[in-house]
Amino acid sequence: MTELIRFAQAGKRYRLGDTFMDALQDVDLGIDSESFVVLCGPSGSGKSTLLNLAGLLDEPTSGAIWMDGKPTAGMGHGQRADIRNRRIGFIFQHFNLVPVLTALENTMLPLQIGGASRREAAVEAERLLESVGLAEHRHKRPDLLSGGQRQRVAIARALVTRPSIIIADEPTANLDSTTAGQIVARMRELNQREHVTFLMATHDESLIQGNASRRLRMRDGRIVEDEVLS
Ligand SMILES: Nc1ncnc2c1ncn2[C@@H]1O[C@H](COP(=O)(O)OP(=O)(O)O)[C@@H](O)[C@H]1O
Ligand SMILES: [Mg+2]
Repeated sequence: MTELIRFAQAGKRYRLGDTFMDALQDVDLGIDSESFVVLCGPSGSGKSTLLNLAGLLDEPTSGAIWMDGKPTAGMGHGQRADIRNRRIGFIFQHFNLVPVLTALENTMLPLQIGGASRREAAVEAERLLESVGLAEHRHKRPDLLSGGQRQRVAIARALVTRPSIIIADEPTANLDSTTAGQIVARMRELNQREHVTFLMATHDESLIQGNASRRLRMRDGRIVEDEVLS
């Protein structure tokens, strides 16, 4: 087991006029490859801020973030974007699918952006849609899919480039509790079968049961609890 991401005394301070707000403070954290880490805590506790730093979407204002044993601080925009494209998959609360593209075309998109041919992209995207149970819906556009099906397309799209880690920010917040449970169980299955690491934020702790390998709890920008679950 290797460490993918390390936070070393990482913090994020926002300036608000002549005052400031510490969205994240003194975070020391390592994310091991192949783990399924769930970040919980109330709204405003810093979950999205932490995920954005882990996904190299944002930079800390104090401390450092390391990726694969290398500091990210000296990296330029191009290098960070390259790591994001190759190593990290993202899943968001609002699915963020392209409405005019079918499930299959949405899933192919990251590969085509990366330079794959249409044919190569289709083969891999079909495999992923099958693995999330959506093979028969692959030619439908998002508006013909349920919320749970849309989020499964988003999972397939996040996985299609074979990233090392999937970062999911409240991926089930717009789903009913039964569907939410199915989505998290599916992510856990992919974590175990495809050996992809997951870092997921949620404020619904009932989802964690039986699905996470580690639970981090946040409050006021700090990690206040860190528990290995399985
Ligand atoms: N761009 C920003 N400017 C100022 N404050 C922000 C910004 N983004 C987040 N915050 C503040 O940082 C804190 C943590 O936010 P966030 O990471 O979004 O929490 P969570 O995802 O747990 O709800 C909140 O108090 C939020 O208002
Ligand atoms: Mg959030």
